[in-house]
Amino acid sequence: MIQLTSLKKIGLLFTSVILLTACSTSGDKQFSNRKVSFNSDWSFHLNDSIKDKDTIGTSTQWRTLDVPHDWSIEGKFDEKSPGGYGGGSLNGGLGWYKKTFKVAVEDSTKITSITFDGVYKNSEVWINGHYLGKRPNGYIGFQYQITPYLKYGDKNNEIIVKVDNSKQPNSRWYSGSGIFRNVWIETTNKLHVAQWGTYITTPKVTAEKASVNIETTIKNQYAEGKKATVTTTIFKDETKVTSVTQNITLNANASQTIKQLAEVENPVLWSDENPELYTAVTEISLDDKIIDQYKTTFGIRDFKFDLNKGFILNGKQVKIKGVCMHHDLGPLGSAINTRAIERQLEILKEMGVNGIRTSHNPPATELLELCDKMGFIVMDEAFDMWKQTKTKYDYGNDWDKWHKQDLIDQLLRDRNHASIFMWSIGNEIPEQWSETGVEIAKELAAITRQYDKTRPLTAGMNPPVNMNIDAVTLQFEKKDVSINPLAGSGVLDLIGYNYAHQTFEYHQKNFPKTPFIATETTSGLQTRGYYDAVSDTIKKWPVRWDLKFTEGNPGNTVSAYDQVQTPWGSTHEATWKIIKKHDFLAGMYVWTGFDYIGEPTPYEWPSVSSYFGIVDLAGFPKDVYYMYQSEWTKKDVLHIFPHWNWKTGQTVDVWAYYNNADEVELFVNGKSVGKRAKKGDDLHVMWRIPFDAGTLKAISRKGGKVVLEKEIKTAGNPSQLKLTADRSTIKADKNDLSFVTVDILDANGTIAPNANNEINFSLKGNGKIVGVCSGDPVSHESYKGTKHTALAGKCLVIVQSGDKSGRLELTAKANGLKQATIVITTE
Ligand code: GAL
Repeated sequence: MIQLTSLKKIGLLFTSVILLTACSTSGDKQFSNRKVSFNSDWSFHLNDSIKDKDTIGTSTQWRTLDVPHDWSIEGKFDEKSPGGYGGGSLNGGLGWYKKTFKVAVEDSTKITSITFDGVYKNSEVWINGHYLGKRPNGYIGFQYQITPYLKYGDKNNEIIVKVDNSKQPNSRWYSGSGIFRNVWIETTNKLHVAQWGTYITTPKVTAEKASVNIETTIKNQYAEGKKATVTTTIFKDETKVTSVTQNITLNANASQTIKQLAEVENPVLWSDENPELYTAVTEISLDDKIIDQYKTTFGIRDFKFDLNKGFILNGKQVKIKGVCMHHDLGPLGSAINTRAIERQLEILKEMGVNGIRTSHNPPATELLELCDKMGFIVMDEAFDMWKQTKTKYDYGNDWDKWHKQDLIDQLLRDRNHASIFMWSIGNEIPEQWSETGVEIAKELAAITRQYDKTRPLTAGMNPPVNMNIDAVTLQFEKKDVSINPLAGSGVLDLIGYNYAHQTFEYHQKNFPKTPFIATETTSGLQTRGYYDAVSDTIKKWPVRWDLKFTEGNPGNTVSAYDQVQTPWGSTHEATWKIIKKHDFLAGMYVWTGFDYIGEPTPYEWPSVSSYFGIVDLAGFPKDVYYMYQSEWTKKDVLHIFPHWNWKTGQTVDVWAYYNNADEVELFVNGKSVGKRAKKGDDLHVMWRIPFDAGTLKAISRKGGKVVLEKEIKTAGNPSQLKLTADRSTIKADKNDLSFVTVDILDANGTIAPNANNEINFSLKGNGKIVGVCSGDPVSHESYKGTKHTALAGKCLVIVQSGDKSGRLELTAKANGLKQATIVITTE
């Protein structure tokens, strides 16, 4: 690589461009080349009865806030919520946002646009009284050019946004409501790279050389033709790698797409383990002056899905060990926050996850950027329904008018992300069973392939083959297998299995020409830290899924041994055992990585959030997390459970997940109760023993040498609180977060596993408490309050910085317990 211009210098140039541009109010931060954040200081008013823009002036009840914002999460849980417990029992409604801003006179010769990354839902936007348009789909970004309607200099401009999420239900999970993703103002020369205007592919990749194709769409909004030069420079980190230049002639008010070809010698390849990225900087020069710069991050990698070998990345077989994720961020609701997404991904990476399915809609761009950087194999999903609705007011109603544009915009927005390896055109689409479905799939496939041929197309089908599963034995009857019309249509590049793990082993026979991916698996159910101590007595869901989980546990809990599953799914172990066994099974996306708000299967109200997560809503791992960690990572793992607080003599099943060892020996109060070793395809070992208060200790050994030791002690009465911050120094940027774990301990510092004290929080300094959560699916305390009841000895409180550097002092108090204080520095 030749060191020429550094990216840092380019960054400085971007800065100077931005400083000249329309900057609104203080507090907004510049993020990338042409865009400035437009998140600060919006006014918000929630009122179902004001439906008309011209009457909002009559309202005086405006509140100032920054977006991303989700108003539903601020409300009370409501048994009568029209969205139902499936939607998290939190209400939608109709909200108005407005913002006043000034634009510098220098910008009157430029093009100014406003970009919304996602507004749930049915947004309508006005600028200075002029109607810009409507966008029903809440999950896709959109942009309006506002140049003709702007006033420059000292004059005020006003943006008004109407958000109508009042018709419920319109989602099978918690959607959130409002301007829940970022907003940007973009200012460019009249000659510029169009929105989502680059498309970078790497058609030939070897260890020595990669060819890089760069397609750039340039827009000329001058009233006369222009001759210009387009230079694309590729950087690795801050070092220039190569550059290509081309002269162009554009007619007045016209767009043109140019193709440039570059070569990168000795490319550093992107992989899940080594997510190396490149940056392409496009510069347009007019009369020898750079008038537009546009940055695209991309990766160089080579991959295929193979009929026999599964997923091959850069020539190496890689099993996709993925999870499905909904878009909410637990107690923060659906208002996106980059650090909150990053924390989720960090927790998942630590477990060994290398794949994310963005179920069941286009995600926030920030998630994709993090997946690029952190190394996740993403399945980017477009729709949960096509024309046929799943809930009364959902997107099916908007299908005819909007699906083409929404899909195209998703593809244009996302197709440069190194992390995306598959497009999913739908999840459990009702039309999959009919010829109508095949026709729609053909249309969606044609659109997808028009915009990106480099990634395979799939859909989550439930299931691809008619299973003939015996309702009692759950055995797959291999006779009379009938193929799902969509799966058999030849439209899809990958057969996407939602569940039906019993049929996976027959995939090559049923679909000899199309590789496999398990789009969605498992749907195991657990409450963190709750156990029916003897496996045999665990309340399970009857195998017939027309029967309910009626004999549930008190408090709507589900035992956290990996033994309770939905009838359509499996235990965590069962599906992984099959996926692990065969190379042709490229991988799986487990339902779900984290718990999410809504869909509290197997219960109804008063449960309001899910039980499916491997990690709970607060971000605390459930036990099965360590089963995956022992299988999906190389690090030494030994995890034993349950807690050690039972009645004397009570029979308790103790499970251990371990790896890198031949056996585990368990001791109760120093006395061995036996060694266990996994046999065959076992993924855990178990001891059934009488409870005796004291210390439970496990030792894993390899070749007689100790690998790990783990101890659980019987806790006394709850006595004190302990606070632990995931980061004790955060940025003073009004965005950054510190996630603080509260542990309830006995006098000796042992976690009290059944403690459910109410904890009160207070914060001193320039910051605020923005979320509290215990992970209890039955809790109706506000996630936005300053007090919360712990679950199984734990609770989470999230602190957000203000815009001043300094000291934040967080204190937690609970009746009868010694309080705790922690200091978080903001800088
Ligand atoms: C699937 C569906 C998911 C979720 C899951 C729960 O069928 O695709 O969205 O509902 O079931 O088990």
